Amino acid sequence: MCGIFGYVGKRSDAGKLVVEGLKNLEYRGYDSWGVACKTTKGTIIKKDTGKISAVNADDFAHGCSLAIAHTRWATHGGVTAANSHPHTNADGSIVVVHNGIIENYQELRKELVAKGHTFLSETDTEIIPHVIEEEMKTTSDFASAVRNACTKFEGRYGILAFHKTSDILVATRTGSPLIVGVSKEDGYFIASDIPAFMEHTKVVQYLDDGEMVVTDGKSILFTDLITGEEKPKREIEITWSVEQAQKGEYAHFMLKEIMEQKDSIARAVNQDDEQIRVIADAIANASGTFLVGCGTAHKACMAAEYFFSVVAEHHVNVTSAGEFKVHHHFLKPESLVIVVSQSGETADVLEAMNIAKAKGSKVLAIVNSEGSTIHREADYTLLINAGPERAVASTKALTGQMAVLLMIAYAMNDKLHDGKTLLLETAAQINDMLNPRYVNHIESLADKIQTHENIYIIGKSWNFPMALESAIKIQEVSYIHAEGFAGGELKHGPIALIEEGTPCITLAGNDEVTQDIISNTIEIKSRGAMTIGIAPENNEAYEEWIKVPDAGAAQAIMNIIPIQVLSYFLAVKRGMDPDMPRNLAKSVTVK
Ligand code: G6P
Repeated sequence: MCGIFGYVGKRSDAGKLVVEGLKNLEYRGYDSWGVACKTTKGTIIKKDTGKISAVNADDFAHGCSLAIAHTRWATHGGVTAANSHPHTNADGSIVVVHNGIIENYQELRKELVAKGHTFLSETDTEIIPHVIEEEMKTTSDFASAVRNACTKFEGRYGILAFHKTSDILVATRTGSPLIVGVSKEDGYFIASDIPAFMEHTKVVQYLDDGEMVVTDGKSILFTDLITGEEKPKREIEITWSVEQAQKGEYAHFMLKEIMEQKDSIARAVNQDDEQIRVIADAIANASGTFLVGCGTAHKACMAAEYFFSVVAEHHVNVTSAGEFKVHHHFLKPESLVIVVSQSGETADVLEAMNIAKAKGSKVLAIVNSEGSTIHREADYTLLINAGPERAVASTKALTGQMAVLLMIAYAMNDKLHDGKTLLLETAAQINDMLNPRYVNHIESLADKIQTHENIYIIGKSWNFPMALESAIKIQEVSYIHAEGFAGGELKHGPIALIEEGTPCITLAGNDEVTQDIISNTIEIKSRGAMTIGIAPENNEAYEEWIKVPDAGAAQAIMNIIPIQVLSYFLAVKRGMDPDMPRNLAKSVTVK
């Protein structure tokens, strides 16, 4: 996590430019921020706790054509100004920002302390400029010193560094994403993610793991971090637009992204039929298929288990990426591992992909971020085309992932066309459903339940993973304790939690399990719960009913939408910022 952004080139407002760009990476971390500007009068560093969005970029407009900046999600060391990046060596000549974790930092720190180095922070990052300083005792070339220093680091990192006496910006990547933006007019941008520089250029070059890049703003050189061998790079034009990455008329990205789903689902469905059939065949012929993801993407995988079971009559295995390590015992070269990720950078998902590859299994990646590490390194890929997702709480990426997986399940049953038609109809129904009256109805429900300490959600079949996802959405943005359960599990423990007036949400469809989940709802109602049904049909079991269209096998996609809206309003009404929930970051690039 953490966002890093550096620029070197013709512009003389580099400080302002990196602060503005970094605001677009704030979803990666928002505990603290920092900027270093290399000016003719020396290096100016400013850093503090708080959000980069609150920083006035004009304060950094002074003459400078090389700057680096950082927005932090704290891992090592608390949220303090001293722990904020950039970090420097003692005389301030070497300046560094870092995303990732230097795992052997304690050992390196001891060695450095023994050599007389002193440290001002509790971070792992601060050792980086000190190790580079040590390496500069054997070479006067700054880039070579950074290269040599990197051989000492264990862990995952994306590093940007400069030296006060040279005009070059150096970046290295091992495990944490770094992308170069190329502008003939302005120079070079290097960032953890594209939105940082999208306003200036859409031409990018990707750094791979174990690579280094050096630029003076006029030219750029990519090399292997260890051998120094040159690594020629293609220039790639990205398709996402600046407008897609902005809030527009909405107060928050979360609401904008919820509202976009009518279009984003249709875009996810708009895939090449032949490619979907090839993937469907690969699943049918694999000796064991594993669906792997984290957080919300993991819930999409869980929903897909039901899609494959009900629609394709095919068994798949689902596991959270963090747990996948243990499953390598079952992997064979004939196995297929499907990794699902919005960002394409999640550390646990990357690890799962690498485990699968090491076992010779094939990897299919279903991702949103084009050019992300997972997208570039998987054997087969499918983009969900949701467009940039900026709110930490994932909404449109989830429904895009589920749409693609449901479509593949239909293709396995030779009914790809039916699957596509169903999903496009679902997208159109979502469009009609999200009208102002409907949204107001959910807002008034949020008003009623916002002071409660607990909310429970139940579902069955594909609505069970959506109950789990509902709990994630409510917890992460409103901080209300929420838990999702399989309706049938209630009687085995969770029903003890129900008190008079506890809001309990039932997710239901019109299917073979509807009666079961209604019975479960009656059970909790008779224990005093305030029951809320999200379902195509009303029922006397529900005290409150939020109507959703009957979407058949796509009901899970339909039912999660009102929950997303409800979570949004619960957050806003409780005075929280739904785009930046505490302690969380959008892209979890550390393990
Ligand atoms: C974080 C985000 C979630 C996301 C999860 C997996 O926890 O806050 O919204 O579902 O990571 O991320 P990925 O990018 O792999 O889908």
